[in-house]
Amino acid sequence: MADALDPQDVAQYQLGDALLVGGSGVRAWDSTGREYLDCVSGTFNLLLGHNHPEVMAAIREQTERLVFASSSFQTEPTNEVMRELVRISPENLTRVNLRSSGGSTANEGAIKIAQHHTGKRDVIVPFRGQVGQTLAAASLSGSSRMRAPFPYRFPGSVHVPEPYCFRCFYRQHPDTCGFWCVQRIDDFIDYASSGSVACLIIEPVSGVGGNVIPPPGYLAELKAFCEERDILLIFDEIQTAFGRTGQMFAADTFGVSPHIMTVSKGLTGSGLPLAAILTEERMSGWDRSLHGFTYGGHTLSAAAAVKTLEIVQRPGFLENVRASGAVLLDRLRALRADHPIVGDVRGLGLMLGVELITPDGGKAVAETHAFNKELHRQGVITRVSEHGLGNVIELRPPLVLSTADAHLIADRFGAALDELP
Ligand SMILES: Cc1ncc(COP(=O)(O)O)c(C=O)c1O
Repeated sequence: MADALDPQDVAQYQLGDALLVGGSGVRAWDSTGREYLDCVSGTFNLLLGHNHPEVMAAIREQTERLVFASSSFQTEPTNEVMRELVRISPENLTRVNLRSSGGSTANEGAIKIAQHHTGKRDVIVPFRGQVGQTLAAASLSGSSRMRAPFPYRFPGSVHVPEPYCFRCFYRQHPDTCGFWCVQRIDDFIDYASSGSVACLIIEPVSGVGGNVIPPPGYLAELKAFCEERDILLIFDEIQTAFGRTGQMFAADTFGVSPHIMTVSKGLTGSGLPLAAILTEERMSGWDRSLHGFTYGGHTLSAAAAVKTLEIVQRPGFLENVRASGAVLLDRLRALRADHPIVGDVRGLGLMLGVELITPDGGKAVAETHAFNKELHRQGVITRVSEHGLGNVIELRPPLVLSTADAHLIADRFGAALDELP
């Protein structure tokens, strides 16, 4: 038999170095036996960690009954997921579309619903906002780096400054600004849009954008702004849903419910593809063929989601997220005392970001890369914001993180910082 090809010689893109062969909870290990603390939960999606045993059992049981049904039919798991999603989501969200399998297509579906419902066109997205990777979603996303290589782009996006108080676009302070980053959106509508704006889509905490947490009151102000202008507010809760911020949804954490909400990543607990769009009652009743994918509402994924939603609602589950998140946040913040490169540490629940700065307060991009590599060497998997181009280390460990492991992660952060030149 001919020698097997090196995978890097067949992949059309750069592969990662390690070959992962197993995982359990917060830990994963590679083919050399090296163990990692997976502080990004796979791709921010393994809400319950690698191979949660109860989710695996639910998948196995469903495998024996029915692996796949087309969306022309109902199945028990898909019915149950839809019921549960409506039950646990903010009260005004009473309808669910379970026909996407990932975040990008769920966000596009949400935008289609908004356009269909309002009869309007444009989409407002904050700077650094991540809408997704399909051509339309990448065109809408709030970073030019994801758009630059592609000549044909989906029109109709309006990008506006986000509530990033650490680097405020308007050079204001949150205590006194009166939310310029909301009020000045009017200028963008007047001078940068087509004049016909259907919706504004925002991650309540900007994930890929660098864990940007809005100041108190921002999202309420934004919702009022949208309602006054008949613009639908969409929360992309693809990273934040199901306990990530310490409450079931970021909408609960901030006490603001959107008109439409998208969820995906964490929904199936241990990594099966599934996404949902939740809407208000007034947006119900469209033709299902307008937005649906072969693998949307996958039966196996739905079985995993039913179990996941049961687990995250168990007594003590969210308390654990808040407790281990508080330990991690406090410990990481304490590192600032000895390491001036750590400019800001921000977090809600188990969604944290560590922003590295240059001595003059600029973005320490090269250092953030070096730090991320060093963390990897120390057995901690993290990511760098803005698809690897930013200066924020992103942490989203599985929500089953123990406080002992939170301390272990912080210890390794300290050790990795000590190694930085
Ligand atoms: C906030 C947010 N929205 C949308 C997406 C796109 O999701 P997917 O990769 O499942 O298409 C992502 C993925 O990282 C995301 O983080």
